Amino acid sequence: MLKFNVNGRAHSVDVEPEMPLLWVLRDHLNLAGTKYGCGAAQCGSCTVLVDGKPERTCVMTAAQAAGRKIVTIEGLGARGLHRVQKAWIEHEVPQCGYCQTGMIMAAVALLEKKPRPTDADIDDAMTNLCRCGTYARVRKAIHAAAAPVATVTPARKG
Ligand code: FES
Ligand code: FES
Repeated sequence: MLKFNVNGRAHSVDVEPEMPLLWVLRDHLNLAGTKYGCGAAQCGSCTVLVDGKPERTCVMTAAQAAGRKIVTIEGLGARGLHRVQKAWIEHEVPQCGYCQTGMIMAAVALLEKKPRPTDADIDDAMTNLCRCGTYARVRKAIHAAAAPVATVTPARKG
């Protein structure tokens, strides 16, 4: 029996320690928003946050994930849409949608680390694959979701 903290809730699940976290989430906890793509850490469709970092759950074992803080797409929008999800809607990012859970989770992690990422930061961080070619919209939506640049009002003279 392994213990998991997923989206703020504690779960005890009877699984083999080497089972991929992806199957724990999808098959044991019914959190099917996280998708299986390649199964080889290449496409990123299975990305969730583990202790705030994007992890590919097709290659992370249940034992590696146990006891750590896991956030899936279901937890991200639990208290109203996250600003990244809102930007995704506003910029109509998804096409077929299959890769988008992973894209969104990777974008959330990027913005936590770099609140105002450059195009180069986005290209470095967003290694997820999209067969529909939504990359330009992903970049646009990440900029839209980024923290606004603080404006400094000059002090008035006299
Ligand atoms: S399914 Fe995990 S990276 Fe592709
Ligand atoms: S939106 Fe179709 S694979 Fe990315």
